Amino acid sequence: MRLDRLLANSGCGSRNDVRSMIKKGRVTVNGTVITDPSAHISESDTLLIDGTPVRTASKLYFIFDKPDGVLTAMEDKRLPTVNDYIPANLKNLKLSPVGRLDYHTTGLLIITNDGELSHRLTSPKYEIPKVYRVRFQGDPVTEYEAEECRKGVILTDTDTPVRLRPCSIVPTGDDSCEITLYEGKTHEVRRLMAHFDKSVIELRRVSIGSIKLSEGSEPGTLTELSDDEISSLLRATGL
Ligand code: URA
Repeated sequence: MRLDRLLANSGCGSRNDVRSMIKKGRVTVNGTVITDPSAHISESDTLLIDGTPVRTASKLYFIFDKPDGVLTAMEDKRLPTVNDYIPANLKNLKLSPVGRLDYHTTGLLIITNDGELSHRLTSPKYEIPKVYRVRFQGDPVTEYEAEECRKGVILTDTDTPVRLRPCSIVPTGDDSCEITLYEGKTHEVRRLMAHFDKSVIELRRVSIGSIKLSEGSEPGTLTELSDDEISSLLRATGL
């Protein structure tokens, strides 16, 4: 779509207003100043006016509280997926979950069609904290284990040892704790707990960066993010 049309459609001003902004060099596309109003822009491009992200009408952002027993996928022949919770009027908008929660993990998934944000939220480069509440079987979390997490645990449950990024583990009871990770290795919480001879009974993600599930949140609910929440995610990922 033409740059001037996309900006006007997104509520940034009349076609004449946005043409004048573009010609004055106030608009960047993926970090480059574009002064041609007829430049062709794709829906996944990142647009800024005077350094402020433009939320194009076609980009959508939701919080989903994933229930137990649902696959983090948009399609599966046998099992329920996140797609089953997306209403008909939002289908075909290329929405997909950011990152992955295990089949039995519940809680916060961000669902969007903003590919760049999705990539950045899952990249360890941006160090977006993800907080998990864990109930487990095993001895209570010790200060030694907390210190190991701060230093960076080396997992030896596969052929090649895996060094985890420093993370935090805080006991919240004798059989519960809160873990904050800054990356998303496969089954990372379950493997970290197994490393400390604990097995996870319940795992729930409660936040990603500044986005938090509300305390009474019901698994299965899909809620659109507010403009402030979207801006804060975009800022945290340098967009
Ligand atoms: N770590 C896990 O082990 N499982 C998840 O679903 C998320 C993080």
